[in-house]
Amino acid sequence: MQFKNLALAAIVATATAQEQQNLTAALSSNPELSNLTSFLGALPDFVGQLSQLQNVTLLAPNNEAFAEFLNSSAGSGLASGSDSALIQAILSYHVLNGTYESFGENVTFVPTALQPPQFANVTGGQRVEVIPSGGNATFLSGLLANSTAVGNATNFTGGVVHVIDRFLVVPQNISETAIQANLTSAVGALLKADLATTLDGLSDVTVFVPDNAAFRAIGNLVGNLTTENLTSILTYHVVNGTVAYSTDLSNTSIPTLGGGNVTITVDGDSVFVNSARVTVPNVLVANGVVHVIDSVLNPANSTAEPNPSESSGVPAFAGAQDQDDGLASGVPTPTASLNPTSEASAAATATSSSSSGGAMPMITGAIAPAALFGAGAILANL
Ligand SMILES: *[C@@H]1O[C@H](CO)[C@@H](O)[C@H](O)[C@H]1NC(C)=O
Ligand SMILES: *[C@@H]1O[C@H](CO)[C@@H](O)[C@H](O)[C@H]1NC(C)=O
Ligand SMILES: *[C@@H]1O[C@H](CO)[C@@H](O)[C@H](O)[C@H]1NC(C)=O
Ligand SMILES: *[C@@H]1O[C@H](CO)[C@@H](O)[C@H](O)[C@H]1NC(C)=O
Ligand SMILES: *[C@@H]1O[C@H](CO)[C@@H](O)[C@H](O)[C@H]1NC(C)=O
Ligand SMILES: *[C@@H]1O[C@H](CO)[C@@H](O)[C@H](O)[C@H]1NC(C)=O
Ligand SMILES: *[C@@H]1O[C@H](CO)[C@@H](O)[C@H](O)[C@H]1NC(C)=O
Ligand SMILES: *[C@@H]1O[C@H](CO)[C@@H](O)[C@H](O)[C@H]1NC(C)=O
Ligand SMILES: *[C@@H]1O[C@H](CO)[C@@H](O)[C@H](O)[C@H]1NC(C)=O
Ligand SMILES: *[C@@H]1O[C@H](CO)[C@@H](O)[C@H](O)[C@H]1NC(C)=O
Ligand SMILES: *[C@@H]1O[C@H](CO)[C@@H](O)[C@H](O)[C@H]1NC(C)=O
Ligand SMILES: *[C@@H]1O[C@H](CO)[C@@H](O)[C@H](O)[C@H]1NC(C)=O
Repeated sequence: MQFKNLALAAIVATATAQEQQNLTAALSSNPELSNLTSFLGALPDFVGQLSQLQNVTLLAPNNEAFAEFLNSSAGSGLASGSDSALIQAILSYHVLNGTYESFGENVTFVPTALQPPQFANVTGGQRVEVIPSGGNATFLSGLLANSTAVGNATNFTGGVVHVIDRFLVVPQNISETAIQANLTSAVGALLKADLATTLDGLSDVTVFVPDNAAFRAIGNLVGNLTTENLTSILTYHVVNGTVAYSTDLSNTSIPTLGGGNVTITVDGDSVFVNSARVTVPNVLVANGVVHVIDSVLNPANSTAEPNPSESSGVPAFAGAQDQDDGLASGVPTPTASLNPTSEASAAATATSSSSSGGAMPMITGAIAPAALFGAGAILANL
């Protein structure tokens, strides 16, 4: 009897083991992933490390995703195989920490294997926003680019593979993201106060970035601000050391880099920072997250309260008048936008390398060639 049961257990175990393919086998058995399979074929060390990971979820771009990606200038550079560090970084961003057969019912921000500071300064790995919808999942990445899981998940020995229809976009630094998001007055203000490089070099930040209309609404005051004033205002928009995605925000008071606290108010679906409304939440950046707000925060008026019935921001500065703030002059014009449609998303991917000669290098401009890493070093410290 006992022997019989053991034998049965052994058969069951063998059968289970046979169903669990290794990563390369799981990918190459799917014809939709033939481009990914051949790409990975050129990166044996990387695949070796990828294959050893346990408890991960690979978001595997299908051939359709490759076609779109390789058509973009970011992708065409990679097709030549000349920048294996970058392609490894991009692929590392597609490796989620944890085995997710499905993604539950709530929005989550899942850590990935993209961890080296050359590409991300988010403790625990850069995040991907996962938006589940009735069993399907959408993934938002840099510039809110949007990828969707297609077909069923496949198990492999280290976790699960989900096929996606579009590459994730590696989040860029705050300055670059703000330019692409047309937050040009904010970028101009950061440059004027000489804070852009400092901000981009911090780790684990939450930044509330006023939109252009917010700066325009205090346009008459902007020209009179001293660098000291401007610095104190801008640093009041930065939470240093905490990455607070929308799912982390609740009614609370948070200390800012500038010293004073901001008050977060959650009112139904609306979130306010002091009296400013968050208009675009969860824009992922290299060192944390940006929430776009509709008015400029005033550290000298930290008790300004939200007015949920106002549809656009009420300035938190006395005597403010709506006029050109002059901040955006000299700031590069955006070539992409946030919350892109499928067409714009390809453009967003494309621009991540096309303007590397610009004032603020975009991702491939900031990343020198493969020399930065030994082959496969990206996954080495997991
Ligand atoms: C993966 O599985 C395939 C087929 O089962 C095998 O040929 C290959 O050597 C395995 N690769 C690794 C890295 O174990
Ligand atoms: C991608 O896959 C398609 C269909 O299998 C194939 O025609 C094309 O040559 C592949 N492209 C690359 C870059 O591997
Ligand atoms: C897998 O990863 C998830 C997320 O990091 C973690 O919660 C879980 O405990 C891990 N499971 C195993 C078996 O390591
Ligand atoms: C999803 O969010 C709702 C509301 O916040 C909560 O009640 C529920 O427990 C969450 N579900 C899971 C699976 O975490
Ligand atoms: C997953 O997260 C755990 C706990 O934070 C960490 O120890 C592990 O290295 C991570 N794995 C990957 C593949 O990022
Ligand atoms: C999930 O996606 C499939 C095909 O991609 C679609 O047919 C189905 O309607 C989607 N389900 C929901 C609940 O959106
Ligand atoms: C996905 O799985 C369901 C249930 O297991 C099955 O009915 C369906 O045919 C599968 N779809 C694909 C595309 O394999
Ligand atoms: C994948 O593995 C999980 C358990 O880890 C199991 O529940 C699920 O049925 C498996 N899916 C497939 C398609 O084999
Ligand atoms: C991460 O921070 C370091 C140190 O400040 C900086 O040199 C690097 O450029 C940052 N990485 C990214 C992707 O912005
Ligand atoms: C950027 O914002 C300005 C207003 O400050 C607007 O005039 C312009 O059309 C916007 N550009 C894009 C590409 O959305
Ligand atoms: C800005 O400064 C100028 C010159 O010092 C002054 O005339 C003007 O009233 C100031 N404007 C505001 C709005 O304070
Ligand atoms: C994803 O993008 C498509 C258009 O490409 C849009 O219709 C859809 O609403 C977006 N989904 C999310 C969750 O943003």
